[in-house]
Amino acid sequence: MKMRTRNLLAVLAITLLFTACASEKQLEEIIQQSNEEETTTLEESTQPDEPVVALPGLPDDVAGYTQWLKLNAEPIPPAPGGDPHNGTKNVHVNQTRDTIAPNGIQQFPYPDGSIVVKEASRPGKDYVGLIAIMRKKAGADPDHNDWQFIEYVRNAPDAEFSVIAEGRSCWGCHAGVKDIDYVFTELD
Ligand code: HEC
Repeated sequence: MKMRTRNLLAVLAITLLFTACASEKQLEEIIQQSNEEETTTLEESTQPDEPVVALPGLPDDVAGYTQWLKLNAEPIPPAPGGDPHNGTKNVHVNQTRDTIAPNGIQQFPYPDGSIVVKEASRPGKDYVGLIAIMRKKAGADPDHNDWQFIEYVRNAPDAEFSVIAEGRSCWGCHAGVKDIDYVFTELD
């Protein structure tokens, strides 16, 4: 009984104290503030994603390529005995699975406007050091299924990419897979 009375008194004291300190107006302010805080967090979480920008030195049309369809299910390891695009690789294309593989079976050739991007991290390095691109532009090069080839490299994670080779130097090997539209990596 004694305990209960003491508790009751404590509650009363706290209530009195609170009423004394926080007038109704102050209370309103507190409530408004917490509402504002809530709105801010909500707004922040519904902000659209930051615009995707290409890695430094790369053309804009490959910005965000890592979000594109990935052809290989597992990273492609460096080829034993010499690798033309030395490193651990992923190959992306700006097409959907439905477009290039209707009914689950990949169809060739790739549609006009296709862009195939291969990124490679050099052995022992944890950043992308090589970007090889194939772009299909109607009429650009009928002898090679209208693919345009170009390759970029860099030697530091924050460095700009620069062109190392393009065109003719790429055809030799890729012509070996002419029957699947010059693209070695097939959709897994
Ligand atoms: C010595 C042979 C060889 C040469 C030369 C070569 N490639 Fe490749 N390329 C390959 C092979 C093999 C692959 C398959 C993936 C892998 O193992 O790296 C490939 C993959 C690619 C891919 C990913 C799509 C695909 O075919 O799988 C692109 C893009 C590419 N090469 C661009 C280029 C460009 C651009 C050049 C010229 C600067 C070039 N390649 C020169 C052999 C070659």
